Amino acid sequence: MKLTVIGCGYLGATHAACMAELGHDVLGVDVDAAKVARLQAGEVPFFEPGLSDILRRNLDAGRLRFTTDHHAAAEHASIHFIGVGTPQEARGHRADLSAVYAAIDTLVPTLRGRHLLIGKSTVPVGTCAELAQRIAVLRAPGADAELSWSPEFLREGFAVEDTLRPDRLVLGTGPRPAAAEGADEPLAGAVLREIYREILEAGVPFIETDWATAELVKVSANAFLATKISFINAMSELCEIAGADVDALADAIGRDPRIGRRFLNAGLGFGGGCLPKDIRALVARAEDIGAPRSVGFLREVDSINMRRRAAAVQLVTEALGGEVLGRNIAVLGTAFKPESDDVRDSPALAVAGRLALDGALVTVFDPQAMANSRRLQPSLGYARSARHACERADVVVVATEWAEFVHMTPEELTPVVRERRIVDLRRCLDPGMWRAAGWDHRALGGVVTD
Ligand code: UGA
Repeated sequence: MKLTVIGCGYLGATHAACMAELGHDVLGVDVDAAKVARLQAGEVPFFEPGLSDILRRNLDAGRLRFTTDHHAAAEHASIHFIGVGTPQEARGHRADLSAVYAAIDTLVPTLRGRHLLIGKSTVPVGTCAELAQRIAVLRAPGADAELSWSPEFLREGFAVEDTLRPDRLVLGTGPRPAAAEGADEPLAGAVLREIYREILEAGVPFIETDWATAELVKVSANAFLATKISFINAMSELCEIAGADVDALADAIGRDPRIGRRFLNAGLGFGGGCLPKDIRALVARAEDIGAPRSVGFLREVDSINMRRRAAAVQLVTEALGGEVLGRNIAVLGTAFKPESDDVRDSPALAVAGRLALDGALVTVFDPQAMANSRRLQPSLGYARSARHACERADVVVVATEWAEFVHMTPEELTPVVRERRIVDLRRCLDPGMWRAAGWDHRALGGVVTD
């Protein structure tokens, strides 16, 4: 099938490449000429395991192209996915929908005949209803642009797997506009079934619903995940005072299938371009639509999460005897999670930045996020390896649980550090091993059982 994907950032580029992988003829459209040039040359502009193979294979097969020419979208296909970014507003907690509106404003007037628009971006509840009114005004006489929303649940680091083997597909459709009533059946359900035929045949559930529910499914899924993480981090605050082990607690409660062990890892908390901004945008939207109390608890979820960063700085400061000024601190990991080069709202980079503000000489290393970190925090020291970052360190801080840090041994670091101190902000190290080698080991969230 012929498809376009409007917006070729993280979500759009992944979606475009994966749709081509399913055999469709895909045109990716983006306003950023540099991004388009890189994608067209087979280069993924961000770190995502497995994506560049799929991108190159489908470019070579002629099933995938990228362009900045927005007129090309209407010429290429009658099915258009919208995958533009919806970041947090610069001044406030609402989602900034300007890229969604820009995509609609540019695309819709160029459409002739019958087209289907399928939104994939994360948007506040009520957005489709607002967009539909705009589409009705913008569309050319006689043209029909049916709007539906199919939220995306992919995780960074697993984007290809999550797109090609999702847990579920969700589609929200709206009432048909009066002009089209009685004329044709809505397209969205049948078209999506055809696009995802291979995936659906593998048994993936397909949940068809209305616009508002589809919009809410996405943000409530992220709100639930954020709540789960903050729940275990709140427990870790109690564990720390009570001398209990939060990992054993998570293992024990996670055995209950109603609870589940995933997303119960205590530590530095959540960051990235999705969970933090999505819970804030949900609180803001709930207030806007007259339900301020319904998700008020998400403010507490956010606040527990932000407290982890302060607690991490305090733990490192304590490890250094109460003063960081002039001390050498190696921070291993700046990405918001492993297998990602993303530093948006990264707890790891925030902690490194705070320690530097407090007067420490902070040197960081991350396997993938160095360039992005340097852009946000140019004044930190940047080392070319974990070992180099640890040279003459008074304390080594593990802030993102990349496998190479988890598997590090005291034998590798003991010869280079000034003091044998390690602070594990992700509770991912084996304390027995470090202590046996004479290191002072501390973990955020209290005791770790050997
Ligand atoms: C998240 C959701 O997991 C995806 O389903 C969703 O599609 C995506 O947002 C989105 O809205 O686009 P992502 O931001 O890639 O995906 O990252 P997660 O794997 O969810 O991790 C989020 C943060 O939580 C990371 O900082 C991670 O370190 C932290 N985390 C995760 C914990 O602190 N503890 C845990 O147990 C799990």
